[in-house]
Amino acid sequence: MREPPAGIRISLRYVDPDGAARDLVGEVVAVDDRRLVIMPWDRGPVAVDTASVVAWRQVPPKAVRPSSTPADLARLAASGWPGLELELVGGWELRAAGGYTRRANSALCEGDPGTDVASALDRVTAFYRSRDLPPQVVLPARTGERHRLHDLLVGGGWAEHSHTWLMTLDLRSAPPVPFPHDVELSWSARPDATWLAAFGRPHPLREAVLTAANADYLALRRGAELVGIARLTLTGQWSGVSGLWVAASERGRGLGTGLLGVLAERALARGARFGYLQVTEDNTGARRLYDRLGWQAHHRYTFFSHE
Ligand SMILES: CC(C)(COP(=O)(O)OP(=O)(O)OC[C@H]1O[C@@H](n2cnc3c(N)ncnc32)[C@H](O)[C@@H]1OP(=O)(O)O)[C@@H](O)C(=O)NCCC(=O)NCCS
Repeated sequence: MREPPAGIRISLRYVDPDGAARDLVGEVVAVDDRRLVIMPWDRGPVAVDTASVVAWRQVPPKAVRPSSTPADLARLAASGWPGLELELVGGWELRAAGGYTRRANSALCEGDPGTDVASALDRVTAFYRSRDLPPQVVLPARTGERHRLHDLLVGGGWAEHSHTWLMTLDLRSAPPVPFPHDVELSWSARPDATWLAAFGRPHPLREAVLTAANADYLALRRGAELVGIARLTLTGQWSGVSGLWVAASERGRGLGTGLLGVLAERALARGARFGYLQVTEDNTGARRLYDRLGWQAHHRYTFFSHE
């Protein structure tokens, strides 16, 4: 049988060593005349003996939609803020970036770790301790629900903190926004020094973490003064907004609304259909703005740290 080329997503039927027929859907990450390595969405890679393959066919890329699970949206968002190091424990994604940003220095514990949960959590702890970082886990859960690992972590001494909402928007419903005329917008493929300074406190890895995923950087200036910034990532049908900021003295005049409108317009023009963003639960001002513009809470994720 012809082997599938690396890079495509396939549905595969094969016979395992016990003689049982198995089905697998995932991306072909390696192929030679003896084995195929398939990467499913929610588990570690699976090596399949080519002689055991009964049939395969190409399938479209996995579709993530606003109706998808918290796990699916969390993985999608993770690709827009990936950190600098990634280690997989089955489907769990252990991310590190010298301690800069919670998202980039936490383990997204979704899917099948390929081992028992206690051993997988030991791997998480060892991963962070070996980098002199506090072990940190992030769990996404539907509104009003608890993640299946929640009680286990709390019982194991992990401290829960930093509740954050992931919100989504069908970009076609974004209203056209009149933008003030006395400001100038510019896009760039990298953040410059003023953009970085507006983004947050200096850190040796600040630029590296921001640019670890391909993104467009939006700057809003009045004359020479930077008055607003935002970062836009594109992943298939999805666009992610991060780094949204308006200078304190300029807030409450529609600039944030205008920036979100410009971001939606750009994302639509680049072929995206949906938007996502992440906002901490205590950021009531930003959440009011997103609510007003039609963004919907999709799920809440929570960080857990261990001393
Ligand atoms: C969140 C943030 C970007 C909003 O920017 P902003 O420029 O103040 O946003 P807007 O002016 O468009 O909207 C804010 C409020 O001003 C009001 N407003 C908008 N246009 C207005 C206008 N022309 N005149 C008067 N008020 C106006 C809006 O109704 C809105 O009210 P709301 O709080 O009830 O939603 C800004 O507060 C900020 O930078 N915060 C710190 C960083 C941050 O938290 N970023 C978000 C991370 S997820």
